[in-house]
Amino acid sequence: MVVFSLVLSISLSLIAQEQKIDSSKYLPLVTFTAEQDHENMNQQLGIKVCVLALSGNESAPNAANYNESLANPCPQLPEILTTKNGKKVTTPEMWWNVRRPEIIEEMEREVYGRLPENIPAVKWEVEITDYEYVGWTPVVAKKLVGRVDNSKYPLINVEIDMMLVVPRNVKGPVPVLMMFGRPSFPAPAQPSEEDMKLINKTFKKALINEDPQLKEIFEKYPAYDPLKWENPFAAMMQRRGQEPSSTEQLLAAGWGYVTIDPNSIQADNGAGITRGIIGLVNQGQPRKPDDWGALRAWAWGAARGLDYLETDTLVDAKKVGIEGVSRYGKAALVALAFEQRFAVGLIGSSGKGGATLHRRVFGEAVESLTGGEYYWMAGNYIKYGAEESTFGRKTGCDLPVDSHQLIALCAPRLTFVSYGIPEKGDAKWLDQKGSFMATVAAGSAFKLLGAKDLGVSNDYLSEEMPPVLSGLLDGELAWRQHDGGHTDAPNFEFFIPWASKFLKYEKVPARR
Ligand code: GCU
Repeated sequence: MVVFSLVLSISLSLIAQEQKIDSSKYLPLVTFTAEQDHENMNQQLGIKVCVLALSGNESAPNAANYNESLANPCPQLPEILTTKNGKKVTTPEMWWNVRRPEIIEEMEREVYGRLPENIPAVKWEVEITDYEYVGWTPVVAKKLVGRVDNSKYPLINVEIDMMLVVPRNVKGPVPVLMMFGRPSFPAPAQPSEEDMKLINKTFKKALINEDPQLKEIFEKYPAYDPLKWENPFAAMMQRRGQEPSSTEQLLAAGWGYVTIDPNSIQADNGAGITRGIIGLVNQGQPRKPDDWGALRAWAWGAARGLDYLETDTLVDAKKVGIEGVSRYGKAALVALAFEQRFAVGLIGSSGKGGATLHRRVFGEAVESLTGGEYYWMAGNYIKYGAEESTFGRKTGCDLPVDSHQLIALCAPRLTFVSYGIPEKGDAKWLDQKGSFMATVAAGSAFKLLGAKDLGVSNDYLSEEMPPVLSGLLDGELAWRQHDGGHTDAPNFEFFIPWASKFLKYEKVPARR
């Protein structure tokens, strides 16, 4: 009953809010299915037929290619250190002033889309501050909301959902790893036994008010409390002896962490592309071919999260990293590449659209991303999966840039490329080898800028992948394949000391 009336009053207030908006003053919000939106983009691009994506299942009749000897149809990658007019890039100045902007232009236009010029401002608010214990580590957890100014198009509302968790037993400000995922309080503080008594007393009174029959029932069971007191350390005791989670490892090493919800920035589906931050900027209309896709939008949201962190004195904003796995591994790499204030990235199992070369035909291919998940990318990217169109047929080999250059955009900042193994579920589909080749090739940009790369040559066609569990962790550019599945958790115990070393961070206990 209580819950019901709460829900009712929330929905009534939402209706009231909506009623205040005179929607006739704004362009009507376009509602497309993903198929309609894809078709709309195809029409804008002059595409009649797209190449059909192949199946990830190796034994399916239409299985994707898993034969290494067929995986490199165009082995020559676009040069990292040669400008468009053929000059060798020999100095950091040439990189920053000429070559990097050239790569960014093509990477934005053809692959991930451009950030619009008129993105509205985000206003951050700390909604809840909670003092908790994660394991034995005292932390402060802040639930944050980033409200995007929607005064130009109030039919769409975007509120970025984020959680910051910082250890209180070390001297701050601390480095922080921002992770794409579901924000939640790690271990919400529970009322004391004393407070709980009062809560139960009042709660019983409220229930009796709601239904007087309850008085008699409560009198029958005088020792009964409807709300149970939870021992705050019970969960901790249960986890004893288990491997510490990634976030527990971060806190134990004196790092803080942030979780940021990608879906609160941009929905993870094509039908949502006229909504979320992309839809808000486009006033509810479909995208143009070089507009940003969801990966760029998620990365933009992460950068706005970093804006908040720069204002929080608990955080060392010069030591903020970005992390994600799978589609969020792609988003993390895009964020690190385009937002230079991120000092470090942990790029987990990112595959095609992430660290893996687009030109590689092994497992997930360009046409997988130009089909179902086209909205991750710029509309222009669909051209590279066109079978019939006004411009003929294009493949990944026609892309002017590739993922080794995306990794190069991160240089000289700390970039850790992480994978698991197919035997444990980090599927072959992801093409670990294609990511290794890109990481090897990207090394030349790191060296030009005075950083260390993987410590092997940059000859991506001849360098062999190191054995599983033997990471290449001596440079600012790092690689490690753990022996687990589709996760980066087993690499945290290597990532944290590697990042701390290069960021020159040493945990110092807080004075009590
Ligand atoms: C699919 C998709 C991948 C993606 C993955 C995920 O497998 O093809 O590109 O990385 O989903 O995000 O889980």
